[in-house]
Amino acid sequence: MEIKEMLYEGKAKQVFATEDPEIVMVHYKDDATAFNGLKKGTITGKGVINNQVTNFMMQKLEQAGVPTHFVQELNERDTLVKKVQIVPLEVIIRNISAGSFAKRFGVEEGIVFENPTIEYSYKNDDLGDPMINTAQALALKLATPAEIETIRTMAFKVNEVMKTFFAEVGVDLVDFKLEFGRLSDGTIVLADEISPDTCRFWDSKTHEKLDKDRFRRDLGGVEDAYVEMRRRIFGA
Ligand code: TMP
Ligand code: ASP
Repeated sequence: MEIKEMLYEGKAKQVFATEDPEIVMVHYKDDATAFNGLKKGTITGKGVINNQVTNFMMQKLEQAGVPTHFVQELNERDTLVKKVQIVPLEVIIRNISAGSFAKRFGVEEGIVFENPTIEYSYKNDDLGDPMINTAQALALKLATPAEIETIRTMAFKVNEVMKTFFAEVGVDLVDFKLEFGRLSDGTIVLADEISPDTCRFWDSKTHEKLDKDRFRRDLGGVEDAYVEMRRRIFGA
């Protein structure tokens, strides 16, 4: 597959055109940002791990009946995916209180919910990705009612598959962010990435943080946390 021009550069990834108009190549960088780009840094080896972890999860989810954009891993940092139009909603599922939920509602981190929560952010860097509800998303025509229903159902299904898998490797899936896209025929598929950048992972026993919060909060051991998550998923 011939790789062509760069179409888009985000904070952590680049997207390239290919000779197939329906397929693009994602390249994972080691660049890390937090707080809408205010904090910048590098997490050495992160791109490789996020590529591999994302592709593993995408394939696991496909097997469980969740359609995704995944096509083929090319090498350590590059993956072919179906070209999509991203729905400008960040979908956040939470199983345990942490991060902005704990802050917004004035509760401690670590409260295990009886049922997972779902919330949405409007994907717009200029506005700082504000929280949005589904009625507001419909008013802004960010998605159709049918798309929002599909996204909600898929997001909870992703949570069930991921929660079960991570429990088996001794990790609590605290919360995570998903993005969805439309194929050229309008089909909604899971897109973007699923990695320690976009999920909170806590060791089930020690509750040690094994994700990007180590970077966001200057906790140290950032690279080691990514390596440990790779080890949990793929073995040594
Ligand atoms: P939050 O508690 O800061 O709202 O984050 C919830 C989850 O979403 C957490 O697992 C980290 C992830 N996330 C992203 O992937 N990208 C973002 O821009 C933000 C703010 C959070
Ligand atoms: N990736 C987001 C940013 O740069 C935020 C985050 O993951 O905390 O702003």
